[in-house]
Amino acid sequence: MNQIHLKQEAVRCLLCENAPCTAACRRGDPARAVRAVHFDNDVLGARLFAACSEKDLEAAEKACIHYDRPVRLRDIAKALPKPAPETDRPSLEVDFCGLHCENPFFLASSAVCTNYEMVAAALEAGWAGVFYKTICLQDIDEVSPRFDALKRADGISAINTVKSVTMGADVDGRRIVSGYSGSAVKPIALRFIMEMAKNPIMPGLQLSGIGGVTTWKDALDFIRLGCRNVQVCTAVMQYGYRIVDDLIDGLQNYMASRGVSRVEDMVGEALSGFVRAADLDRTTVVYPVIDRNACIGCGRCYVSCRDGGHQAITFGDDRQPRIVGSKCVGCHLCHLVCPTGAIGLSKRVPKRK
Ligand SMILES: Cc1cc2nc3c(=O)[nH]c(=O)nc-3n(C[C@H](O)[C@H](O)[C@H](O)COP(=O)(O)O)c2cc1C
Ligand code: SF4
Ligand code: SF4
Ligand code: SF4
Repeated sequence: MNQIHLKQEAVRCLLCENAPCTAACRRGDPARAVRAVHFDNDVLGARLFAACSEKDLEAAEKACIHYDRPVRLRDIAKALPKPAPETDRPSLEVDFCGLHCENPFFLASSAVCTNYEMVAAALEAGWAGVFYKTICLQDIDEVSPRFDALKRADGISAINTVKSVTMGADVDGRRIVSGYSGSAVKPIALRFIMEMAKNPIMPGLQLSGIGGVTTWKDALDFIRLGCRNVQVCTAVMQYGYRIVDDLIDGLQNYMASRGVSRVEDMVGEALSGFVRAADLDRTTVVYPVIDRNACIGCGRCYVSCRDGGHQAITFGDDRQPRIVGSKCVGCHLCHLVCPTGAIGLSKRVPKRK
């Protein structure tokens, strides 16, 4: 099982409450282990799976209630890297606008923090706190006057939902413009954050990032672009407060692997990497490399490169895709569409003539 299959299989897990697979396992907690992998925390996943014997996992698979077929827990466990030894956990404490926060993970104002009981449960689960952006019933049409006050503001939360239209969602035929959120808005949010973090009219303004944060890797992207913390709504609506476990553990594992001891040290560290498109090096390319053993000859890479790329892949009756180096521009469309992960990437090398 390669990395792509590992993730796809982990994502098949239904993330059951009171999971039958774990009830069937004598020692470990396979449901928690597969949840860690689902949320990009392979380090913890490997540690947790190591507590389950082959027999335990066989029993867990038999007990799995997946509607299609049992999640392949044994294969996931085998595909994970050897569990890394436990190291000291770096603290995730961070200051935001004069407030000392236990970690950088907050709930975003919405349905996930509607009342006292919900907030209490979230704090109990490990969330550092809650942000309320708008708490009123009036329509908010125009926020630009608020920017006049920016020079006096200590911080900004961004983004909110992205205005959108969902056909098929109506009340007796009447529709409204509503808000789009979740993973799809993350790149939009990151662009706004990056531009605000670099904007010279807002020096010293502290940023709280929102938009599609689901895993610790998402949170890290916001932090590296200048946020001191992140807020989460949609992922909590989808998966529950429990996702904070892997946000915390995953970020700590990452910091430990890099030898970083404070969240503050990573805030904005990726900002200097942004240049104008014209300033990118056009003389070198990262070429795709096909792994013949993993290729099943489906031809998807050929179709995409032919119709959406640079006609740099040939595909004949032998069903073997071949890359024509002189035509390839290194766009990696083929790498993205390959369903088996058979297309890897070379090192950056001078462009072939
Ligand atoms: C169901 C729902 C209700 C929301 N209600 C509010 C709200 O009352 N006030 C507010 O400022 N933002 C509200 N938001 C926006 C969220 O706080 C957040 O900015 C947005 O959903 C993007 O984050 P996400 O991708 O983690 O969901 C709401 C979002 C959703 C999905
Ligand atoms: S029973 Fe199956 S689907 Fe449910 S948590 Fe366990 S592995 Fe996942
Ligand atoms: S990297 Fe782009 S141009 Fe090169 S073979 Fe793949 S799809 Fe074609
Ligand atoms: S998309 Fe992947 S599996 Fe399909 S032919 Fe291309 S390399 Fe092979």
